Amino acid sequence: MPSFDQLTLTTPRLLLRPLRDADAPALFAIFSDPRVMRYWSTPPWPTLEEAHKLIARDVESMAAGKYVRFGMERLEDGQLLGNCTLFNLYEQCRRAEIGYGMSAAAWGKGYMHEALSAMLAYGFDEMALNRVEADIDPRNEASARSLERLGFKKEGHLRERWIVDGEVSDSGLYGLLRSEWKK
Ligand SMILES: CC(C)(COP(=O)(O)OP(=O)(O)OC[C@H]1O[C@@H](n2cnc3c(N)ncnc32)[C@H](O)[C@@H]1OP(=O)(O)O)[C@@H](O)C(=O)NCCC(=O)NCCS
Repeated sequence: MPSFDQLTLTTPRLLLRPLRDADAPALFAIFSDPRVMRYWSTPPWPTLEEAHKLIARDVESMAAGKYVRFGMERLEDGQLLGNCTLFNLYEQCRRAEIGYGMSAAAWGKGYMHEALSAMLAYGFDEMALNRVEADIDPRNEASARSLERLGFKKEGHLRERWIVDGEVSDSGLYGLLRSEWKK
């Protein structure tokens, strides 16, 4: 895989760009919010240190082409709204998994749809992916709607796959094929 550490994409309202250390406070504000983390695979971040660690890991891993994570910066005011990621890249099978999270204040305005559309276009067109997968908590209706709006199909339900802070939850598995993208 090529290096992703300089990669940026522009959408009508967003600049998608690598996270940098100065984003740590904004990132922490998003991922320490229990509303955002209700169905996440980890508990809300307890300290700002988590944000610094994620950004440091991104700088190294994206240079090595291990995954692509974009910070979503609103063009209008430069505010960081969230992030979206293509990870678990499996080159042989040309597949990847998608992940995303956004500040509660930005919900319901189509920002994530805009970001994910651009990231998927990059994945299918530039990385030549054949399949993108998502694993969500089936109770996460906003996330399911986001996936379905992009053309993902629900392909499976795995029981009791996650335990987060003692809470056991299932996985809803979704897939989007290259042949279905933007048809
Ligand atoms: C999942 C999550 C990103 C979805 O956010 P969202 O705001 O519903 O998604 P979008 O940004 O695509 O916006 C779509 C909504 O904006 C509305 N909207 C307004 N203007 C729009 C536009 N120009 N384009 C598209 N949608 C628009 C849509 O009608 C839709 O609302 P609806 O679902 O009530 O119909 C958000 O709920 C979140 O961050 N949750 C916490 C983290 C999380 O659970 N992540 C997923 C883990 S797998």
